[in-house]
Amino acid sequence: MSFSSNSPIVCNLPRVTIVGAGRVGSTLAQRIAEKNLADVVLLDIILGMPQGLALDLVEARGIELHNRQIIGTNNYADTSGSQIVVITAGIPRKTGMSRDDLLKTNAKIVVEAAKNAIAYSPNAIFIVVTNPLDVMTYLAWQATGLPRSRIMGMAGVLDSARFETFIALELGVLPADVKAMVLGSHGDLMVPLSRYATVNGIPITELLDTATIARLVERTRNGGAEIVELMQTGGAFFAPASATSVMVESILLNQSRLLPAAAYLQGEYGLEDVVIGVPCRLGCSGIESVLELNLTDGEREALHTSAQSVRKNIERSQEILANN
Ligand code: NAI
Ligand code: 2OP
Repeated sequence: MSFSSNSPIVCNLPRVTIVGAGRVGSTLAQRIAEKNLADVVLLDIILGMPQGLALDLVEARGIELHNRQIIGTNNYADTSGSQIVVITAGIPRKTGMSRDDLLKTNAKIVVEAAKNAIAYSPNAIFIVVTNPLDVMTYLAWQATGLPRSRIMGMAGVLDSARFETFIALELGVLPADVKAMVLGSHGDLMVPLSRYATVNGIPITELLDTATIARLVERTRNGGAEIVELMQTGGAFFAPASATSVMVESILLNQSRLLPAAAYLQGEYGLEDVVIGVPCRLGCSGIESVLELNLTDGEREALHTSAQSVRKNIERSQEILANN
């Protein structure tokens, strides 16, 4: 028995490159492939490691019932023609370290990764995950020269998911029924918007007292550190990978979901030339629009304080890069 041969069909399947095949990167590769969203290229500087991970994921395809290609590589040429590039390369936080302690090491890694990736995928949309998130997204924007619609950072979806989880646990309801939005920088100065959080449309302010909400907000702000303290060897990666995959999905499937993403602002919320988490509509062209919510004076002040700390670190990163 043999297959007859027809003229070859060239299929341009969507391709997502993930730079950094560590815990977040490899888990994200698994999510993207198993959700059947795109073929995946996993790139890392460690020789053999992304190739091994890719082979392991490929061997699970029959069991997981998908047929996505997953390639592991150390060479940017293999990433060419990607629709989306996700940057997770860098070091994660260790116990006692703040995200900003990571600045020095990760700035150089992210700039190099962004420049290499854009050279092979000039039409790609970039999602940065490496910490400190808002600063790294700014540096990747600078390094690629991309329009702001095509570069964003992932943090708000994760921080919002944590806030939603803690609300759901407190009320004993299904997490999927809780909707919340966390804006601002990815760190202690993030801005969880309790006023806009609901359980299937019912504001949480009707369901929980002020002290309880304040406790859940505090736990959300500390969400990353809580996991680092427990694990002792690196940080969270399952929920970060899920959060990133939701952004990838909204872009590849042109879903126009309204998600918090770190975006370069040009006057929105009274902020300019800074990257910070705001509600964005994500579709096939990237950030289709930024939604400007009505904020109370307190919320607006918190967002500006958050932006100020990002600005300070952007300035520090420019000094670091200039001296290297
Ligand atoms: P990891 O250490 O498991 O993986 C990082 C990978 O980057 C390693 O495999 C390493 O070899 C690779 N790498 C280092 N330099 C590279 C380079 N020049 N080119 C290519 N690859 C390179 O770390 P993990 O847990 O995956 O975290 C990755 C980053 O994501 C960290 O900075 C972490 O803080 C951040 N993160 C951000 C989150 C967010 O919400 N934005 C959530 C979770 C993690
Ligand atoms: C987190 O929030 C480490 O930023 C990472 O889990």
